[in-house]
Formats: sequence, structure tokens, C-alpha cells
Amino acid sequence: METANQNIKPVTTRINDNGCIEIGGCDLTELADTYGTPLYVYDEETIRSITRSYKDAFRLYPNIKMMFASKAFMTKAICKVMEQEGFGLDLCSGGEIYTALSSGFDMSKTLFNGNNKSYDELVMAINCGIGTISVDNFFELELLNNVAVSSNKKVRILLRITPGIECHTHEYIQTGHLDSKFGFDLTQADEAVELIKEQYKNLELVGLHAHIGSQIFEKQVYYDEVGVLFKEIKHIQDKYGITLHEINLGGGVGIKYTEQDKPVSIYEIANVIIESIEAHSKEYKIEAPSVFIEPGRSIVGTAGVTLYTAGSSKQVPNGRKYQAVDGGMADNARPSLYQAKYTVEIANNPHAQADTKVTIAGRFCESGDILAKDIMLPDINEGDIICFYDTGAYGYSMSSNYNRVLKPAVVLVNNGKSDIIINRQTYEQLTESDLIPKRLDN
Ligand code: LLP
Repeated sequence: METANQNIKPVTTRINDNGCIEIGGCDLTELADTYGTPLYVYDEETIRSITRSYKDAFRLYPNIKMMFASKAFMTKAICKVMEQEGFGLDLCSGGEIYTALSSGFDMSKTLFNGNNKSYDELVMAINCGIGTISVDNFFELELLNNVAVSSNKKVRILLRITPGIECHTHEYIQTGHLDSKFGFDLTQADEAVELIKEQYKNLELVGLHAHIGSQIFEKQVYYDEVGVLFKEIKHIQDKYGITLHEINLGGGVGIKYTEQDKPVSIYEIANVIIESIEAHSKEYKIEAPSVFIEPGRSIVGTAGVTLYTAGSSKQVPNGRKYQAVDGGMADNARPSLYQAKYTVEIANNPHAQADTKVTIAGRFCESGDILAKDIMLPDINEGDIICFYDTGAYGYSMSSNYNRVLKPAVVLVNNGKSDIIINRQTYEQLTESDLIPKRLDN
């Protein structure tokens, strides 16, 4: 069955009677008018549709805990939607913990990940009752045990391992291969287990964690990942008599940015995972474990679009035609960081013939600030509203204040209603942490 991550556009996208693109029953040109641009627009229905696909796809394996990888897009309203959909949260910083806490999230349904969690973050995690901590390295094992001892608590942990599975995604976002900054190499896992058993008495090892990469289009890698984790569980059981009942498979399911992308349905991913669990449970005679998954991009990526207003344009003599917009690499770092490609439309003119080759340039002071290179679009006029699809994941969450440009607002749309879920930053907020030392203030 097809799932929302396999479409370029949010599930509610349509052209309305005014000939404009509408998402969640809201005309994009009206949203741009009301809230200004750049503007991130999230379709609530698409988010809920994909979370429901995950739940439905895994219904035959009820012992599953879905944790939204909040690094993809984190704000209090999203925590609420996740809570309503029965999802937990994968958190990876004090800021993400704080956001979840201040949204009133049940912290027992959260997981804490990261390769260099600080002492303060670990204290915060333990004090607020985070459900599970995925420990990444020897340094953290010791640090976390010390924090747990001082708080007189026993902490549930997973060991993050590097499973050695390569997936054919962009090299910057491969994490499962052996030369990785994340997790214990499999050859180090024994030592970690021994330390927990002998020394770190405030840590309760409940399972293993791996994450094999992001924007993955293959399903076999998930089958193999389960196999690697089961083999290690069996090894730990045989060698140390410790039975681990939990595995965390990480995230990574891909979405469709352009027609060339062929992401897999959530149902296919779920089937492959369940199949692999059954096969490996039999092979190793291990009881089927409790499974965590941590999807990020596939939950919010397709749901989000970014609206820009077309500004200046430039035709290089015998060269490219550049159309500048009022945002760029500070609200979407992905094109300049990963050469990521997007599907683009003109929200007020989606049907016109796309017969002009144009390069959409950002407004930031850097030649590399190009949002889309050599794409075909209808003629663009100043003031047109340009819609970039699939910016819901790692857009806002990786945004910056480069050039001291304000961070855009975010609206959530549903059934003809739009609500601001993050206000546009103000110049006061931008400068509120700036201090002028007395000796400079003359
Ligand atoms: N779990 C762990 C431990 C992770 O490191 C990640 C993502 C996820 C889950 C969620 O993966 P997803 O389902 O979103 O693929 N900034 C890059 C993506 C970095 C992904 C980092 N880790 C991008 O914009 O493509």
C-alpha cells in the first residue's frame, strides 16, 4: 500500500478555484500574504497519515515503540501531535529534552541519543525521567553511571553499536559503516558489557541500538540490521548469560524529493523488519524482542513546504538565468550541504507551461547559496510565491541566523485552518543575547 512518504506533495495538496495551490484547505498565496515569507507550512493531515501508516504497518508486531526522531523538526506543537498519535520521542540534546518537557510530554516515552552527551544533559535526562538512554561510547558509560549513582537511580540503557552496514545514501549521512563517530564497534561491545556487569551497577542494560543512515531507499538493509543485532544478542547471552529484550533499529526511511526518488512504502519496511525478526528469532532461538524505531524525515518531510517570494532576477549574458528569493541556505541548508534536489512550483501559477530553465538563488551572501539549479519552471514574475516541496525535515531544524536574517515563521494547516506554531523571529529576539562589555560602551 502506498504511503505519504512516496508522494512529493502533502496528501491534501490541490489546485483551488483561484488556480492557486492549496494545502490543508489553505491557499498558499493567502498564507504568504497573512504570515509573510519565507514561511514553512506543515500539513497536519500528512503527518497524521504517515504516523497511522506506521502503526497500521506494524499491527502484526504490537511489541513496537515508535519514537519520532525530533531532530527532523522539533517544536512543542509537534510533540502534541506525536503524543496524540501514540508516538514517543527520540531526543538528542538538552534543547530537545527541554522542548518535550515544556510541551508536557510523558518523558517515560522518550529516548536519549547522541555521541557526546554532556554531564548537564545526562543529569537533566535522569531528573526528568527519560525512558531509555542509548549509550554511545566508553566515556559516556562511565559518566552516565556517575550521574546515576549521585542521583541514586538505576538507568535503562541500550548500547549503540556500529553494525557495519553500508547503505547507498549520501556519504555524509551514512552512520552504520565501521569508520563512524557513532556507537561501539562490534569488537568493543564485549568490553562494554563486562564494564556494565562488573562496575557500572546503576546501569541496566536492556538492549542494543543501531542506526544505519538516512534517506534510505532499500529495504534489505533493515533485514540485515536486525540480523546483526540478533547475532550480537545471542553472543552476549552465550558469553555473559545476559538476555537483552530490546532492540532499536533507528530511522532512515526515505522520502520522495523529486520524480527520480523511489522511496519504499512503510508497509514494505515493516514487513521486512517483521520477517527478519521471525527468521532470526528462530535461527538463534531468541524470544522476539521489544522493538524501537526512530523515523524522523519520513514523518515530517513530505508534510512541510517552504514558501518564498520572488525578488530580483538576473540573466547572465550567454549564461544562467537566476531568480532570487527572500530565503535560502539559512532556512534550508540541504542544497548547499548535500546538493539536495527539490521539486518546485509557483503557488499562484502552478499550471503554466514550465518552459524556462532557471536557477533559484537564495538571498544570503555566498555564491553557493543556490536552492535549485537549472530547473524548469514557468516564467517567474517579481512577487510570485515559490513553493519548495518536502522541506519538512531538517529544514527548520537546521536553520540559522546567517547574515542576521530572521528565522521564518512556521504554520500548521488543517481543514482550512492555519495556526502559527513558531513565530517569526523578531529583531529584538535576534539581538537579545548580545552584550556590549562596559569598556566598549563609550
Ligand atoms: N535515529 C538516529 C540515531 C539518528 O541519528 C537519526 C538521524 C534518526 C534516527 C532519524 O533518521 P531519519 O528517519 O530522519 O532519516 N541532516 C540530514 C539528515 C541527518 C540524519 C541524522 N540522524 C539531512 O538533512 O538529510
